[in-house]
Amino acid sequence: MAPVARAYAAGGGAESMKLMLLGAPGAGKGTQAKMLMDRLRIPQISTGDMLRGAVAQQTAMGLEAKRYMDAGELVPDEVVIGIVRDRLAEPDCAKGFILDGFPRTVVQAEALETFAALDRVLDVQVSEERIVSRLSGRRTCRACGAIYHVVNSPPSVDGVCDQCGGVVYQRSDDNEASIRERLEQYRAKTAPLVAWYADKGLLASVDGDADPEDVQATILDLLGVSDQS
Ligand code: AP5
Repeated sequence: MAPVARAYAAGGGAESMKLMLLGAPGAGKGTQAKMLMDRLRIPQISTGDMLRGAVAQQTAMGLEAKRYMDAGELVPDEVVIGIVRDRLAEPDCAKGFILDGFPRTVVQAEALETFAALDRVLDVQVSEERIVSRLSGRRTCRACGAIYHVVNSPPSVDGVCDQCGGVVYQRSDDNEASIRERLEQYRAKTAPLVAWYADKGLLASVDGDADPEDVQATILDLLGVSDQS
């Protein structure tokens, strides 16, 4: 499979990079998406972040979504499809985007095809023991969404975001029961997308057990982007 940047070059210029990060909860999709966003200068489109934003604003949709999220279940397809369709129509997505956490079902993937064509799907693979320890120790900045871990990557000052000074908190769905349910939902509803995208020739697997910087280097290599430039 040709790296995306080279494939574009062959086709007349790197006009856009439409990427999707696939992987179980806690695989590191958000961590990698934020690094890619800085490197490629295209937006991260995280349905989880958008839903948490709606919860924080206490919109009707947010209050409805919160019930599903706290239980570790997926929010109904029609809700997330509408959010992503609207977001991808915004001008900053014209040159590409990094989908993080969408699509998560075959219905969502089929809907996505009606309004955007992906260039590459990166499946970040991590063992289940690591997932549980990553999620139970995860902390997130309420203001800017920066991601920390109490052991592996804590903020310099406990509870304070290094990047923006915001409050660093534990997500309400990062508890044992919800983590277990999210893994179950992933196996039943999202994992079938691995074969779905492989059949379309879009899938590349990435070892997500490595350090975040090494995972990022692997991804950039797969995309044909130099991590020096
Ligand atoms: P969402 O916010 O997408 O949660 P998720 O898929 O469960 O993924 P996470 O955010 O938990 O994990 P991640 O892979 O981004 O890992 P991270 O980089 O943070 O969704 C939340 C909920 O919203 C869903 O349960 C559902 O209800 C709803 N929802 C969202 N999208 C939906 C959709 N499309 N359809 C229906 N419902 C939807 O890393 C985790 C931790 O590990 C961090 O502490 C990090 O510091 C650490 N870490 C990361 N990488 C490494 C590494 N390489 N080495 C060591 N530690 C690492």
